[in-house]
Amino acid sequence: MDDETFIFGSFRLIPAQRVLLDDGKPLRLGSRALDILITLVEHAGETISREQLIAHTWPDTVVEEGALRVHVAALRKALGDGGRAGRRYVANNPGRGYAFVAPVTREHVPSAAAAPTGVAEVGNLPAPFTRIVGRDNVIVALAAQLARRRFLTIVGPGGIGKTTVAVAVADRVRASYKDGAWFVGLAPLSDPELVPSALVTALGIPPSGANPVQGLTGWLRDKHILIVLDNSEHVIDAAAALAEAVLKAAPHAGILATSREPLRAEGEWLHRLAPLELPPEAKASRRWWRFVVGSMACLWRSNSRRRASIHLASVGWPHGSMTGLGF
Ligand SMILES: Nc1ncnc2c1ncn2[C@@H]1O[C@H](COP(=O)(O)OP(=O)(O)O)[C@@H](O)[C@H]1O
Ligand SMILES: [Mg+2]
Repeated sequence: MDDETFIFGSFRLIPAQRVLLDDGKPLRLGSRALDILITLVEHAGETISREQLIAHTWPDTVVEEGALRVHVAALRKALGDGGRAGRRYVANNPGRGYAFVAPVTREHVPSAAAAPTGVAEVGNLPAPFTRIVGRDNVIVALAAQLARRRFLTIVGPGGIGKTTVAVAVADRVRASYKDGAWFVGLAPLSDPELVPSALVTALGIPPSGANPVQGLTGWLRDKHILIVLDNSEHVIDAAAALAEAVLKAAPHAGILATSREPLRAEGEWLHRLAPLELPPEAKASRRWWRFVVGSMACLWRSNSRRRASIHLASVGWPHGSMTGLGF
């Protein structure tokens, strides 16, 4: 069977497989943003009203225009719309709707050849930090643990590298979760009651009325999915309750949390992240020094002595030796 493929810029969109490739590599895009893209590209050049787009994207739910705006913004960001090289893909025609404005070529390719990896990478994981120093062993070990334990919390003080390690671990294992790896940043939440809704929003599933946890667990029941709950300490009890509910309802789900404190939840396995301890020869390496000096310059510019101090602690710099760096 052939799959219709739409080609624009460096992208190939294969709606039947729900795959978007950029230069042949699968691009991470939330499922609603992908629905919006498919609708727009299938009608390239036409303005699609907001009501039509909402009806295509959320066929069973009533959602507000704000939700559409959020997902269109995510789509534009993923495509680099209006960014480098001034490429334009999705235009907003005020009062009328959205239109896909880039030239599109259609192609029919055999299904087997369409997705080079065979499996679309699903999820919304941030791109892992490319130059992670001194954490290879812990990343490999935690990836192996996660497959066995299902619920892992990386614990440590702010700035020690918990999020960096969690994203790298999730990136390493995500191919083994067919429904993807999903990152939920809990830092902006001040109200613990919003924790389940944050997961609903990240997953792009329709909100389910009064009891979001019930809707979530129902939806997750048969999913092979990894959920990263980042910065759980602000809303620790709610994050713990959600993790327990998800793991109970969804036998193939995994939870990777980061927190300054343990969640103290059932089934939780803790990893206390140690400060980086580098051998003297590694400390002298150019890469390490570039990391320290580059990061210090960045933090110096942001004029934050506290963050700089935390950051230096994370790379094993002795406390109280800030003066030598001009602080
Ligand atoms: N192993 C590492 N290699 C390079 N940079 C790192 C490493 N660990 C942390 N960082 C950098 O230090 C800062 C703080 O790390 P982060 O993972 O956000 O810490 P936490 O989540 O514990 O607060 C970030 O800018 C991150 O990119
Ligand atoms: Mg963090």
